Amino acid sequence: MGHLSCFLPGDIWPDTDGVHINAHGGGVLQHEGRYYWFGEHKVGGSVGNSAQVGVGVYSSSDLYNWKNEGIALSVSEEHGDPIQRGCILERPKVIFNDRTKRFVMWFHLEPLGAGYGGAQSGVAVADCVTGPYRLVGNFRPNAGHWPENLPIAQRLPLDELEAGRLRGMNLNGGPVEEFPDELICRRDFAGGQMARDMTLFVDDDGSAYHIYASEENGTLHISLLSEDYTRCSGRYVRALVGRFHEAPAVFKRGGKYFLITSGCTGWAPNAARLSVAEAMFGTWTEVGNPCVGTVEEVRNTFESQSTFVLRAADQESGFIFMADRWRPKDAIQGRYVWLPLEFRHGVSVVGWREKWDLTAFAK
Ligand code: GAL
Repeated sequence: MGHLSCFLPGDIWPDTDGVHINAHGGGVLQHEGRYYWFGEHKVGGSVGNSAQVGVGVYSSSDLYNWKNEGIALSVSEEHGDPIQRGCILERPKVIFNDRTKRFVMWFHLEPLGAGYGGAQSGVAVADCVTGPYRLVGNFRPNAGHWPENLPIAQRLPLDELEAGRLRGMNLNGGPVEEFPDELICRRDFAGGQMARDMTLFVDDDGSAYHIYASEENGTLHISLLSEDYTRCSGRYVRALVGRFHEAPAVFKRGGKYFLITSGCTGWAPNAARLSVAEAMFGTWTEVGNPCVGTVEEVRNTFESQSTFVLRAADQESGFIFMADRWRPKDAIQGRYVWLPLEFRHGVSVVGWREKWDLTAFAK
């Protein structure tokens, strides 16, 4: 197959067999000099919005040419299995644990039959980067733990009045006029916090964080993982309360933390948002829309939704914004929008490019 030497955002992206890459809602792990791109393996039609196959993985040495390494985590054919075929398995991310020498994958899991009501996290591990990964847990995170930034006076179960107020609200994953403050978090204290769109981030000291859209999508939770990365540590904070962020992508530059997210409009694109913090546990501050370009491009993030920010090796400031152009009617047709992040006065911005390559990062 032809050798690729540039990115063509939004185009068909052939792998080294000439087949359009199938790794949606993905993330990239760099390991021993190679990049590994994990993502949702979609099939054609709208049935492709649910998991019919599993999580695919590709590898590359140059970020342009990707070799299909097969299915890293397969759905199960067994009835009642948490990742039974037909479940919803989204936004898989893989990190490497230096102590256990294991690869750990987290993803958003909706066990079969409950729509998006499950709001669980799935965890799978493997000894080899490309798998096979084995499911080791599925749960709602942080059951029985209070967020560190929830005032102690609020650490109580709901009373009847509060529970009734929540039941009367139309919480369907989209913004609501009056967000019920900490009520959803308190409601879910015992059973675990809701977790939908998510990402993972490993800090320089090896601490890993799970960042997920919680509280009916209204609030992001930033949750420290256990030392082996397979569980929650029980330490977490609520961030951007009631602001309805999803599709989180986190990166660190110059000692500062950046978070790119979208709003909550399902498969339809909306305006991206950038938030910054001095520490993973915050405080996170929204600084606006990182996109620059035409009104339309800024309004709909180049017709895409964030999934990850990838750091290109050997590039001092080579951060790549990765996003999905979803095609929910024919899921396998989804496209990828990869664009270089630029930094202006310490804030990151992203603009459209028809065609670009890694020399964009050269000073
Ligand atoms: C999006 C989300 C996707 C998927 C979709 C389902 O908002 O980012 O990962 O869950 O909704 O409608």
